[in-house]
Formats: sequence, C-alpha cells, structure tokens
Amino acid sequence: MTELIYPQIPEHSLMVLIGPSGAGKSTLARTWPASQVLSLDALREAVSDDAGDQDATAEAVDVLHLILERRMARRRFTVIDATNVTRAARQPLVAAAKRHNMPAVAVVVATPLDVCLERQGLRPDNQRAPEDVVRSQHHAMVHSHQRLAAEGFTIAFADTLYRLEPFLKQLSQTREDGLRRDGSEGLLLVRRFFGPEILPLWRWQPGPAQRTGRDRVAEICLGQQHLTLAFRHGVDNEGDFDFDFGFDVLLPCPFDPECAGQAWAPVYSVTDLHKALTGLMDKDPDIICTVHGRPDDVDDHEAADDDHEDRTGLQTQPADAVRA
Ligand SMILES: Nc1ncnc2c1ncn2[C@@H]1O[C@H](COP(=O)(O)OP(=O)(O)O)[C@@H](O)[C@H]1O
Ligand SMILES: [Mg+2]
Repeated sequence: MTELIYPQIPEHSLMVLIGPSGAGKSTLARTWPASQVLSLDALREAVSDDAGDQDATAEAVDVLHLILERRMARRRFTVIDATNVTRAARQPLVAAAKRHNMPAVAVVVATPLDVCLERQGLRPDNQRAPEDVVRSQHHAMVHSHQRLAAEGFTIAFADTLYRLEPFLKQLSQTREDGLRRDGSEGLLLVRRFFGPEILPLWRWQPGPAQRTGRDRVAEICLGQQHLTLAFRHGVDNEGDFDFDFGFDVLLPCPFDPECAGQAWAPVYSVTDLHKALTGLMDKDPDIICTVHGRPDDVDDHEAADDDHEDRTGLQTQPADAVRA
C-alpha cells in the first residue's frame, strides 16, 4: 500500500477527500484555490439553490463528474469535496483519473466520531446530518481504508498534509493584491467596514471635501437604488474616545419630512447599509440632523439649544460636501 505525505502529492492528480460529515473536508479543501475544488454541497446548491437538498444529490453528482472529466482532459489538479465513503461514490472518480492517466490520491480525513457529531450542532439546519448518518459514514470511512489501494488510489491522511502554509500564502496574496488596488483609491476603510464585495459599487464623490481630506462623500449605487455616505473622522460625539472615525449614511430627516438639512447616522457594517436602504434606520436614535440636531435635542429643544448648535456645527461639512 502506498501512503503519501507532503510534499509528494503529484502536481497533476486527482485528490479525493474521504470522511464523514463534520470531519473537516471542506475546511481542508478551502486551502486550495476555489477553482480546483469540486464540492458536492456547492453543486447541490448550484442545481437546487439549497446545499442541503438531498433530493438534488444525483444531479449534483452528474455535474461533478462532468466538470471533473473536463478538468482531467486539461490535466488540472482537482480536489473532490464530498464524503466519498462508499466504493460506489469513489469508483467513477478513480476511473476518470485512470482514463486520463493521472494518479488518484485518497485523503482520509480521519476525525474521531464524537468530534464529527459535536460539530453537527454548529451547522445551519439544512446542512446538519442526522446522528445515525454520521455514525454510518464514519464506520464506512474506517472500513474504506483497507480497500483504497485495491481500488486504485494512493493514500494520504489529512493530518499529514502541510496545508496551513499554502493557505496563508494564498490569502496573503489575495489581500496584498486587494490592498494595492484599494489603497490607491482610498478604499481600505471601506473594505474593512463593509467588505470587499461593496467596493465595485463604491464611488467617491468629487467636491471640496476631497481637497481637505475630511468628510469625503461617497455613493453606493446600483441601478435605481443608492445610498449616500460620508467618511467621518476626528468627530468625538460622546467624549469617550480621543479619535473617532467611520462612516455615516444619509437618511430622511426623522423630525420633519420637509427638512432642508441632512440627517446622518453612523453605519458599521453591511447589515447597517441594508437597514438604511430598507428604512429600518429611519428612526435610529443616533441620527443627527444638520437642522434639528439629535432626537434628544428635539425632545427638550429649549434646554439643549447651545449643545444643539455645537453638534450641528460638527455635521455641516458632510452636508456642504453633498451640496457641492
Ligand atoms: N482543523 C480544524 N480545526 C478546528 N476546527 C475544524 C478543523 N477542520 C474543520 N473544523 C471545523 O469543523 C466543522 C466542520 O468542518 P467542515 O470542513 O465543514 O466538515 P465537512 O466538510 O467534512 O463536513 C467546521 O465548523 C470547521 O470550522
Ligand atoms: Mg463539507
């Protein structure tokens, strides 16, 4: 029996992960570039919109075999992320590799049963395997071991692979590329607050605010829907921090629908952006209107008059930037 340890995994090969639900196959698979991984869950989702839809398994397997065949014809390294605990599941995979004269490596993800079971509890409902299913998958994995060589696989164990280093290298490369591009466009904080997916929709608005480098205004725009945001820094509303920075979103004035000022509220995440767009932030207690101030100021308008002017003063710059 041939057992492999890193770095002997051939460059042009098929890697078949073997292990029960919860063993850590997908976690391991993610250490390779996404294009090299054929995940049965992902293909179930691709054909049915639900990764956990067991009725979609046969179609997902069809698609998996088709893509594998096309990749093998190009001699591309491929990882199969599925339980693969039965000979019936493995046989067409090893046959494809043989047809294309490439080695098939079985990587046994031999995680203890109790760990696999415990991990089910952390999963989303549609991806949680029942206990008896995990037990029988685990049993089948253990019994697969002696048969794999005869089936045509060379064998490796997941815990002998050195995947942390290439994983970090890949993440680091992606991040460096992102930083180089986004850094030059002033998008580093945008990425950090809202994630890289928002960046293609983000447009800094030209205007005087840009020259001063303070309170830049931006739009997130897609078709008819858009949000206006302002970058805020050095504004210390609560007196808790010496330095404060972040983004505010422009909302309708909660005090007067005819208000000519601007109402801004801080946003910290894409969840906040979604709330702002769908009206769920329209009554946000942190809104500051450039005319009306804060909700507190409106409640006891007379008493807080001085305070009100201070706060609105702080907010005139983004408002000016919007008008500019
Ligand atoms: N090496 C590891 N160390 C710690 N936790 C892990 C490891 N591998 C996987 N896990 C955790 O186990 C859970 C199941 O892993 P996953 O890769 O989804 O399993 P599978 O794809 O085999 O069902 C995940 O929550 C994951 O974070
Ligand atoms: Mg998985």
